[in-house]
Amino acid sequence: MDQAPSERLLFWAPSKMSCRIAQIHKVSSHSEVYEPCDDSFALVDALLADRTNLLEHKPTLCLELGCGSGYVITSLALMLGELPGVHYIATDVNLHAVRVTRETLQAHNVHADVIATDLASGLDSRLAGLVDVIVVNPPYVPTPDDEVGQEGITSAWAGGVDGRAVIDRILPVVDKLLSDRGWFYMVTLTSNNPLQICRQMKAGGYASRIVVQRSTEEESLHIIKFWRDSGDPMCKKETATLKKTSSGKVMDSVLSQIHRLPFWKKVESND
Ligand SMILES: C[S@@+](CC[C@H](N)C(=O)[O-])C[C@H]1O[C@@H](n2cnc3c(N)ncnc32)[C@H](O)[C@@H]1O
Repeated sequence: MDQAPSERLLFWAPSKMSCRIAQIHKVSSHSEVYEPCDDSFALVDALLADRTNLLEHKPTLCLELGCGSGYVITSLALMLGELPGVHYIATDVNLHAVRVTRETLQAHNVHADVIATDLASGLDSRLAGLVDVIVVNPPYVPTPDDEVGQEGITSAWAGGVDGRAVIDRILPVVDKLLSDRGWFYMVTLTSNNPLQICRQMKAGGYASRIVVQRSTEEESLHIIKFWRDSGDPMCKKETATLKKTSSGKVMDSVLSQIHRLPFWKKVESND
């Protein structure tokens, strides 16, 4: 569907990048589907900040768990568009989100298999050890445990005690799916205790680094990248990149400075 220019989200428009990925159009929405927000933007900025590495990494299979509107998986597919033969899969437990994601992908001429399921249920045996990139913006808001997994929009943000109920289910799924050279990017909130998550992952053999850290009025977000600390050449490359880019301190994405127009708020819902 064509959108008026005022209804476009100019979420990212650096001069070196293709115009094709400078805009994600809102083509579909639903009152029970999570609208892209600061956390979604921070995750895409983290992927953009790591885009050169991702292109060199040449993933063959990329997966998003909890795709919501499709903003993140569509952005990823567009930013890796020059790589041949990459397959994308996105899942969400919310059927409306599955529909909205399909429509967002289609409107941007990119393809992903979008599957309605709980995390990666039904896929995990087939995809075990095969996924090169996993991205997740999980429900991370601290809530009472009984709010987790409720129908509708609540399941987009309700994260249980410390916001960890869904995150703690995601980590073993990722461990099962990720290939030996796989990279995993996840949004966390300070209340989720990201340090403890990194320690837990380290005990399972993963190295990590913060790709983007961002504070809003309401929350402080970290986008953390994990990879198997195995001595693999890509692992060595990741470590080298870390030394080059972070110099021992948290790296914030310059892309975070780019102004965003609130396009997603302007289009009528397709309920
Ligand atoms: C914070 S929203 C993020 C949406 C989108 N990825 C983004 O960044 O804009 C979390 C998403 O995870 C989905 N979700 C929650 N629990 C899930 C589960 N157990 N399995 C699959 N998806 C789930 C929600 O429906 C929601 O779309």
